[in-house]
Amino acid sequence: MRSDWVLPICTGHERLKDENGDKAHPTQKPESLLHRILLGSTNPGDVILDPFFGTGTTGAVAKMLGRNFIGIEREESYRKVAQKRIDNTRKYDSDALSVSTSKRAEPRVPFGQLVERGMLRPGENLVSPRGETAKVRADGTLVCGKSAGSIHQVGAALENAPSCNGWSYWNFSRDGKNISIDLLREQIRTEMRQRPN
Ligand SMILES: C[S@@+](CC[C@H](N)C(=O)[O-])C[C@H]1O[C@@H](n2cnc3c(N)ncnc32)[C@H](O)[C@@H]1O
Repeated sequence: MRSDWVLPICTGHERLKDENGDKAHPTQKPESLLHRILLGSTNPGDVILDPFFGTGTTGAVAKMLGRNFIGIEREESYRKVAQKRIDNTRKYDSDALSVSTSKRAEPRVPFGQLVERGMLRPGENLVSPRGETAKVRADGTLVCGKSAGSIHQVGAALENAPSCNGWSYWNFSRDGKNISIDLLREQIRTEMRQRPN
C-alpha cells in the first residue's frame, strides 16, 4: 500500500440524499476510505468506536467487513440516516473476509486469474480513485487511453508515479458501488488456503 492515499470524494450512488434530493450530510466520507482503514487496523469481530458518526459510514463498512461498532452522533436526522443505511447493509461472505496477518507470505495471485475465473469480464471497466476508467482485457492487462499494461503499470501511468499497487488502486463496479479488486484476490487466496496440499 502506498503511503499517500488517493481516494475519491463521496459522490454518485454512494452519496446519501434526503427526501428533497439534497445531500443528507455535508461531509459524508467515502466507503473506500473506511474500507482501507478498517481492513488495515482491525480484525473481524473487533469493536470500532466512531464518536462522530454522521451518516454512519464507519458503521456500514464495519458491518460489511464483519466488525462490530458503536456510533455516537448528536444530530437526530443524521442518526436516522445512519440507521437506515446500516439496516440496508449486508456483511460480505465470511470467506472473503479472512485476511492473513503477513501479506508478504501470501500466495501470489496474478490479476489475470480474476479474468480467467470470470470474476471480472474482458471489456469491463475498472475505476481509479479519481473516477478514471480502464478496460480489462482478456489477457489480464488493462488499457486506459494511450497506456496499457498491468494493473500496476496503468495505475502508475495515471498517477504519473514511478510505481503503484494496482490491487489497492483499482475498483470494480457492482450495483452502483465501487469495490476494491483486492477483495477478489482475497477470495482466491482463501480458496487456496482451504485446498489440501
Ligand atoms: C465529519 S462528520 C462525520 C461524517 C461521517 N464520517 C460520515 O461519513 O458521514 C462529524 C459528525 O460529528 C457530529 N458531532 C460533532 N460533535 C459531536 C459531539 N460532541 N457528539 C456527537 N456527535 C458530534 C456532527 O454532527 C457530524 O455529523
